[in-house]
Amino acid sequence: MPERYDRLAITLHWVVAALVLCQISLGWWMLDLPKSPPGLRAGWFNVHKSIGLTIGLLVLFRLAWRIGHPPPPLPESMPRWQARAARASHFLLYAALIAQPLVGYLGSSFTPYPIKYFGLVLPYWGWDAPALKELCSAVHFGLACLISVLVAIHIAAALKHLLVNRDGVFQRMLPHLILVMGLFFWLQRTPRPRPTRRPRPNCPPSR
Ligand code: HEM
Repeated sequence: MPERYDRLAITLHWVVAALVLCQISLGWWMLDLPKSPPGLRAGWFNVHKSIGLTIGLLVLFRLAWRIGHPPPPLPESMPRWQARAARASHFLLYAALIAQPLVGYLGSSFTPYPIKYFGLVLPYWGWDAPALKELCSAVHFGLACLISVLVAIHIAAALKHLLVNRDGVFQRMLPHLILVMGLFFWLQRTPRPRPTRRPRPNCPPSR
């Protein structure tokens, strides 16, 4: 099996992946929330903003970590165009996941509402500018579509490595615990040879 990612990189990958999936669903869902009772919509918008800012911080931390801990090389067997496509899509994902929280934060700063980070009110430096807010909302929407497409491609490519190529690339990013559990279930599935029956000793006929 090829070299694995380090433990922190694996943890960050799955935490960010889970948060991004929640964030995209929450983003679409919260738009349909009614404005009354007061506070319901604003509350969920603030949850969305808090998770979004957390994703931005985690991605920046992941990039800083990556400088000192480069990812393991891709297998030699992988065609060059696929390796290039993988690098380009990863770069785009990182760029979009940094730009999206920034644009979201910027757009929210051009409204009169304060931004709360899990309840903590962040300093308000913006001003009420509906046109700038509209512009940021349009970019935020475009980036949300781009991230959704990139995530779908990312998952499809990972599954291809796991099910078609079987080159161990998928497993490099799996936590050890899941690998061990997978092995356990696989062993449970494989049919075990049935024990051969010993011939019964001749019993005396029962009375
Ligand atoms: C990776 C991080 C983020 C993702 C994936 C994300 C995703 C989304 C999605 C899918 C929507 C619904 C579609 C749309 O109208 O744009 C949305 C809406 C929204 N997001 Fe985010 N978002 C992120 C970060 C943020 C941050 C950090 C803020 C603010 C601090 C924010 C503020 C908003 C607001 C206010 C809306 C409602 C529509 C609008 O006014 O633009 N988002 N987001």
